[in-house]
This record gives sequence, structure tokens and C-alpha cells, in this order.
Amino acid sequence: MSARTASLPDRIAMYNGNVLKIGMFGANCSSSRTATKVPERWSASWPDCLALARMADAAGIDFMLPIGRWKGYGGATDYQGETFETVTWAAGLLAATERLIVFGTVHAPLIAPLIAAKEFVTADHIGQGRFGLNLVCGWNEGEFEMFGATMRDHEARYDYAQEWLDIVKLAWSAPDDFDFAGRYFDLKQIRAKPKPYGGSRPMIMNAGASPTGQAFALRNCDALFSHISYGMSLDETAGYVARLRDEARRQGRDIDIYTVGVVTCRPTAGEAEEYWRRCIVDNADWDAVDNILAMRDITRDNHSPAEFERLRNHQANGMGGLPMIGDPDTVTAQLARLAAAGLTGIAVSFVNYLDELPYFCAEVLPRLARLGLRQPA
Ligand SMILES: Cc1cc2nc3c(=O)[nH]c(=O)nc-3n(C[C@H](O)[C@H](O)[C@H](O)COP(=O)(O)O)c2cc1C
Repeated sequence: MSARTASLPDRIAMYNGNVLKIGMFGANCSSSRTATKVPERWSASWPDCLALARMADAAGIDFMLPIGRWKGYGGATDYQGETFETVTWAAGLLAATERLIVFGTVHAPLIAPLIAAKEFVTADHIGQGRFGLNLVCGWNEGEFEMFGATMRDHEARYDYAQEWLDIVKLAWSAPDDFDFAGRYFDLKQIRAKPKPYGGSRPMIMNAGASPTGQAFALRNCDALFSHISYGMSLDETAGYVARLRDEARRQGRDIDIYTVGVVTCRPTAGEAEEYWRRCIVDNADWDAVDNILAMRDITRDNHSPAEFERLRNHQANGMGGLPMIGDPDTVTAQLARLAAAGLTGIAVSFVNYLDELPYFCAEVLPRLARLGLRQPA
């Protein structure tokens, strides 16, 4: 294969002709993004991850985005209890695929920036320019305790991440040795070779939701992943996306906006609804859901019964991502609405990717192509 071009927009997959990019979200975690007890729930075993990556690659799926998770949420299934470390996971999948981008999701406070920078470069060379970085600052105190790391207050988390990312970017680009003196890091005579593949650099994304988190993404990242709340109208979504893009432009930058969703697509609306109900209602791992809520200080003690039930159902139903439940026409229409609202793409999950992705690719992707939103696979 010839050396790829040096400019970031020419990196393949995330800058291809698909108007609406589609990725697989969360496949490195057991149960993925559905806290369910159904026996076919996602194993996240290596053979299953590998089979999924190859299937997605062949079908023209644009990217795979793992979750940076160190500790499961308990419950009957220990929801997301088995997780692969994401950069090594990405490296393995990049070696086995040809087209799609594979992200690593990295907690800046838990790894030295120069080790991280070199891991990213390694994965990027393995994938010939297809590694992407999802930088997270962390929110789950229990995970940080395992590392003996203290969770900084919210603003300081992003200040720290700024220095961390500045160092990573310098390690990727600086032709000569350099020093870095900041508030959190004082590093001397930094030397980092090789550089990322093809003279470019990996795509960088962040999923900050707070004003500080989003400002960080607008300042530093190529893409921002954001929850589009269920029930948010097309106009509201379009307004939200336009505001973010305008703010980026004011800073002389361009940013892509993605969201996340959970897909249940079946030949008929009734079948989709029935499967969704079996997984998310009748067999939900409610203890795991309640544990997640408790980490955010949402309990029956500090919320009214009705409000607690609403938040609980919202969490179980797509983990805050957009639930997309229906026949192929319905799911296609929902995806088309996201594109119409100006979103660049969506990272989706399934209860079992290997069982469900073939139908999605066979029925939904061609419909999107007919609408001009995707290139034919
Ligand atoms: C699509 C998406 C993916 C995320 N992935 C992770 C992750 O893998 N690990 C993690 O600790 N946090 C993850 N987060 C949480 C965010 O990084 C961020 O902490 C959260 O949205 C709260 O925003 P804030 O930090 O601006 O308050 C994710 C959020 C979204 C929307």
C-alpha cells in the first residue's frame, strides 16, 4: 500500500464521502451499552471483537469507538465488568482491518502523556493512519481509586487534560528535542520518534458535556461526541449543532459533531419493539442501572418516585444515547433526521453486534445510500 497523504482531512474513513458516518460504540465492554440479562448479550470476547471489526470493515462502517472503563457496574451481570484496554484493543483490530478508524479511549490522568503518545503512534503505524484518540478526563471516582489517583475538581480536570494533550501533540509533531514546563508537567529534553503515520496525526475527539468540556473539545479536537436527548426535536438538535459549529468557527476551527445511539432494527416495528422490551424492560439488569445512577448521586432517597423512574428508564434505554427502535424504514428515517440536523455521524451499539449488524447493513445502509447519505458499500 502506498504511503498515505500528510493532511488530516485526507486520512481515510472519517473523511470519506459518507455524509452520515456510522461507527460501532462500546464493543470492548461486556454487555456493551445494554444492561440486560438476556443470554445473547455482548460478550466482548476477543474472537467476537475481531469478527465484528472484520464484518464492519467489509460493510463500509466508518469507525469503532471503545469505552474507557476499568471497573464494572455490578448487578446480576456485572454490567461492563469485562473490558479490554482500548489502545491495545485498537492495535489488534487495526492489524486485522483495512478501512475503518479504530479509536482508543484514554483517561488523561491515568497515563503519562509520553507513554500514551508513543502507544498512539504505534497503533497508528499498525493501522497505516487509522488510529483515532478519544480523550476522556474521567468522572467515576471508584475507577480512579483503583489507580490511587485523585479525581481533580471539574475545571482542573480539563486544565490538566490541556497540558497532557499539548504534550502529546508536541511529541507527535516536534522535529527536535523540546522541554515542557506547565502547571502539572515539567519535562526536559523530550524526544519522541517516530511520528504518526504519513506525516499527519490521529483524529482527536472528546465527549465533554459541560461548558468546560465542550470548550475543551472546540479548542483542541476534530470531533465532539454529544448525547442528543431523546425527545429533542430536529430544530433543537440543528440549533445545538449549529451553535457548536459557529463557536468553533469563531475560534478559527472546524469541528465535527457526532452522537451515540442504540439500535434495535427488525423487519417489522412489532418485532423490534418486542425484542427491545425483552432486553431493556423484562430482562434489564436494574441493579446495574441503579448502581450507575447512584454514582451520579441519583437515588430513591433524593428523587421523587416518578422522577427516579424516569431517570432509571432513560438510563436503561440506550444509556443516555438515542434509542432507535423499528423497522429499517423507521431507523433509516431517524438517522436521516440526524444528518439533516447537521450531525456528522453516530456511534451505535446493539445487544449483540454480530447477530444484528448484518441486518442493519443489508437494510439500513442501502436506504441511507439511496438518500445520498452514504456511499454504496
Ligand atoms: C459518546 C461518549 C463517550 C464517552 N466515553 C467515555 C469513556 O469511554 N470513559 C469515560 O470515563 N467517560 C466517557 N464519557 C464521558 C465524557 O468523557 C464526559 O466526562 C462526560 O460527558 C461529562 O462531561 P464533562 O466532563 O464535560 O462534565 C463519554 C461520553 C460520551 C457522550
